[in-house]
Amino acid sequence: MAQLWGGRFTKETDQLVYNFNASITFDRKFYRQDMEGSIAHVKMLAAAGILTGEERDLIIEGIQGILHDVEEGTLEISDTFEDIHSFVEATLIDRIGDAGKKLHTGRSRNDQVALDMKLYTRDELMAIRRELLELIKTCHQLMKDHVDTAMPGFTHLQKAQPVTLAHHIGAYMEMFKRDHSRLNDIYGRMNYCPLGSGALAGTTYPLDREMTASLLGFYGPTLNSMDSVSDRDYVIELLSALSIIMMHLSRFCEEIIIWNSNEYRFIEIDDAYSTGSSIMPQKKNPDIAELVRGKTGRVYGALNSLLTTMKGIPLAYNKDMQEDKELTFDAYDTVKGCLALFNGMLKTITFRKDIMAQSARNGFTNATDAADYLVNHGVPFRDAHSIVGQLVLYCLDRQISLDEMSLPEYQAISPVFGEDIYEAISLRTCIDKRNTIGAPGPEAIRKVIAINDQWLEKADLVEHGDSLGTPLYE
Ligand code: ARG
Repeated sequence: MAQLWGGRFTKETDQLVYNFNASITFDRKFYRQDMEGSIAHVKMLAAAGILTGEERDLIIEGIQGILHDVEEGTLEISDTFEDIHSFVEATLIDRIGDAGKKLHTGRSRNDQVALDMKLYTRDELMAIRRELLELIKTCHQLMKDHVDTAMPGFTHLQKAQPVTLAHHIGAYMEMFKRDHSRLNDIYGRMNYCPLGSGALAGTTYPLDREMTASLLGFYGPTLNSMDSVSDRDYVIELLSALSIIMMHLSRFCEEIIIWNSNEYRFIEIDDAYSTGSSIMPQKKNPDIAELVRGKTGRVYGALNSLLTTMKGIPLAYNKDMQEDKELTFDAYDTVKGCLALFNGMLKTITFRKDIMAQSARNGFTNATDAADYLVNHGVPFRDAHSIVGQLVLYCLDRQISLDEMSLPEYQAISPVFGEDIYEAISLRTCIDKRNTIGAPGPEAIRKVIAINDQWLEKADLVEHGDSLGTPLYE
């Protein structure tokens, strides 16, 4: 047992209590952020005259040595410590002696862990955003490649009207763009530094909180020390945005599974992203899509768990908050993994354009266009709707499509029909004529692609610049 606070105790902690209380098995994950935070803290302490320049240099060198050795694998983060903070501090004291004992001046583990969690979450947010942007680029490319790839659009999983693959992928493009902007919003609200809040009531040292904030890339310090040590809103917000991302991925996966089924055969998932069956030799299963769909539950679980953990906690820090980590870290890793795998799978899918187009031709997807034809010839829409309903019944009886009816057959149901009905209800016309912005027509889709080109240019600038998010306050 290695802990920082034995002084006022007369008995050793019970081993089970120690194990139950310890967090090193999971907070070791932010060892790097913990040390980054400590280095900034020490620089500030020296600038404020609380440590000497010599002490500062000794401590920083010591921490950098620990970081180096951990990353090289020559120093093990041992589970005998209570948490990552104790591990770093004890190792530092062990290595540099008394100067190391000054590291924790003007700091509590409460503001320290608040900082570590924030730094780690900020890094993960950016990593997830990068993966999301890669997926958005794949969707953008697919849209460009498939402006003319016809397929049926569905409502109630019943064929409804013809669309294009560009249009269908474009729907996900919009969802993922909103996801991306949600991540930026969260960044803007969370990017304030809690360090210097102490246990809950600040400190009596003349800390320069602006300095630590700026050394660590924050917009500035947080404004209330009690809130700072007990705020996990940004984690909840991120888990919520991640849940929405997973919901989007899961819907897309569901469609990929359907499209890949023997009945649809719209797509072929690449061998590299499929798996076989141990008993049925003919099988090629869409396991990756199913797993992404399945893992959505874990991410929702993390969100629900943290919302519930936080709901009854009085100000300020309470140990319940240690429960913010395990499921959250799992959610971050899960979403990063799912985005990367899904992107790889999507990129390598083969679309069977002929089968998709054939499917778009069947199922009366042009019935609305037949009604529109009548409207364009002066028939009120409600009457047109009913006439086309009769056409569909007629075709169903004979197992033919609208295109296969002869003109006399059309005219027997309504004399308004002329030779131009065939052109009006052809698959190409049905798609090409829908050109209001947002519709599947190629003209409309090209406009959207141009807008997305600009969107991507901006997103790339954000990725490579430092203007991430919009600050909540100056
Ligand atoms: N392991 C703790 C956590 O994750 C660190 C903060 C400990 N603070 C305390 N007052 N016991 O929340």
